[in-house]
Amino acid sequence: MTPHTDDCMGAAALPRTDRGLDRFLLDRVIDLAELGRFGARPNPVVGALLATPDGTVLATGHHAAIGSAHAERVCLDGLTGDVPPDATLYVSLEPCSHHGRTPPCTDAIIEHGVRRVVFSSGDPNPDTAGRGPARLAAAGIEVLRGPSDVERRALQQNAGFHSVHLRGRPYVTAKWAMTSNGRFATGDPEQRWVSGAMSRALVHGLRAGSGAVACGIGTVLADDPQMTVRGELADRVANAPLRVVLDRALRLPLSSTLARTAREAPVLVCCTHDAAPEHELALREAGVEVWRAPAAHEPGAPCMLAASLAMLADRGVNDLLLEAGPTLLQAFWDGDLIDLAIAFVNGGVAPDDQPGLSLDHPLATRVLAEPAQPSGSDERHVAVLHPAWEIPGSCAG
Ligand SMILES: NC(=O)c1ccc[n+]([C@@H]2O[C@H](COP(=O)([O-])OP(=O)(O)OC[C@H]3O[C@@H](n4cnc5c(N)ncnc54)[C@H](OP(=O)(O)O)[C@@H]3O)[C@@H](O)[C@H]2O)c1
Repeated sequence: MTPHTDDCMGAAALPRTDRGLDRFLLDRVIDLAELGRFGARPNPVVGALLATPDGTVLATGHHAAIGSAHAERVCLDGLTGDVPPDATLYVSLEPCSHHGRTPPCTDAIIEHGVRRVVFSSGDPNPDTAGRGPARLAAAGIEVLRGPSDVERRALQQNAGFHSVHLRGRPYVTAKWAMTSNGRFATGDPEQRWVSGAMSRALVHGLRAGSGAVACGIGTVLADDPQMTVRGELADRVANAPLRVVLDRALRLPLSSTLARTAREAPVLVCCTHDAAPEHELALREAGVEVWRAPAAHEPGAPCMLAASLAMLADRGVNDLLLEAGPTLLQAFWDGDLIDLAIAFVNGGVAPDDQPGLSLDHPLATRVLAEPAQPSGSDERHVAVLHPAWEIPGSCAG
C-alpha cells in the first residue's frame, strides 16, 4: 500500500476548516453524492453544492453516471446567474484537474469565478492527489479541506474506488447468514433458507451497490443461485453487477441458472490455468466469460484469489460482494481479503453435518457477541464487523 503522509502534494498543505457551517455542508455533499450510488461506478460518488455564508444553498449537483458531468460542473451549470463573490463551493471529493472522459472540474470552478472551495476528502490516488487543489490555489482561490472525521466518512463512502487505486483490488464485503450453531444451510428441504426477511431485503441493495457479486462453485452446485439485483432497485442500477464464480476446476454446469442467463446479465468464471478446455468452449458458447488465473509457479506469484481480485479491479470492479459458502469465506479470511463482514444469525439450530463455521471461528465468535435483536425479528443477531481496512486519508491529521 502506498504510504501517505501529511507531506503529500498540494492538499497536504491546505488548512482544515473548523467552521460549523462548513462541517454541516460538507456532510450534506456526502449525502448528495449517494444519489449517484447505482450509476457512477466505477467512478467515485461525488456531491457538490454552492452556498452563501448564511447557509443559503444556491445550487446542488452529483455525479450521476460514468461519462456524465462531474458534480462540481453539474452544480455550477445549474446556477441561474453569476456565482456571488462570497459563495463557497462544497465538494465531497477534491476537484480533479485532469482530462478524463470529461474536462477538469478545476476549469469549471475557475471559469465560474468561484472564490472559495471546501472539500470533504482528498483523493488518495497518488497520481492525482493534490493537483486540483493546487491548481485552484494557484488561481487565487481559497481552498480548504474538511475536518478529519468528515474526511473519514467521505473516504469510506468511496472505499472501493480508493481500494482499487491504493491496493489494486476491490473492497470486499462478505455477507452470509447462519444458524445459531454456525451452519450455513438448514439441511431441511422444506425450509431451504437460513436467511430471514431482513437479510433478503438488504442483499439486493448490497448487490446494487457492487460492481460484482461472487460465490464459490459449491454454492452454485448446492443452490443454483441467480445472483441478480431484483425488486425496486433493479431499474435503478445502470450496469448489472458482474456475477463471478470461483471455480478452479471449471465445473459450472451448462444447466445452471447462471449459465442459462449469462446473456441477460454477465457471468465470469475464474478457474486455474489448467482447467478442462472442452468445457470452457461450451460455457463460452453459452455466453459465460471464462478467466484463467496465471500459473502460480513463480515464487511470490499471487494466489488465485488475489489474482482474481486484481483482474476484477483492472476491469473496473471497485466493490465485490462475497456471498459464498463457508469454504470460500474461509479462503478469503485466510488471505486477509475481507474488508467488511455482514452476518445474520437466525435463532434455529441445524444438523452439525451441514456446512458452516465452527463456533470458535473468529467470525462466528464476533457475530454471536452482537446483542440479540428484539423478539419478533427472525434474525436474532445482525452484525457488521470490521471495517478491517482504515483508508489512509490523502493527508492525515
Ligand atoms: N447461508 C449463507 O449465507 C450461504 C451462502 C452461500 C452458500 N451457502 C450454503 O453453503 C453450502 C455450500 O458451501 P461451500 O463452502 O461448498 O460453498 P462455496 O464456499 O461458495 O464454494 C466452495 C468452493 O469454491 C471453490 N473455490 C474456488 N476458489 C477457492 C479457493 N481459493 N479456496 C477455496 N475454495 C475455492 C472450491 O471448489 P473448487 O476446488 O472446485 O474450485 C470450493 O469447493 C451450500 O449448502 C449453500 O446453501 C450458504
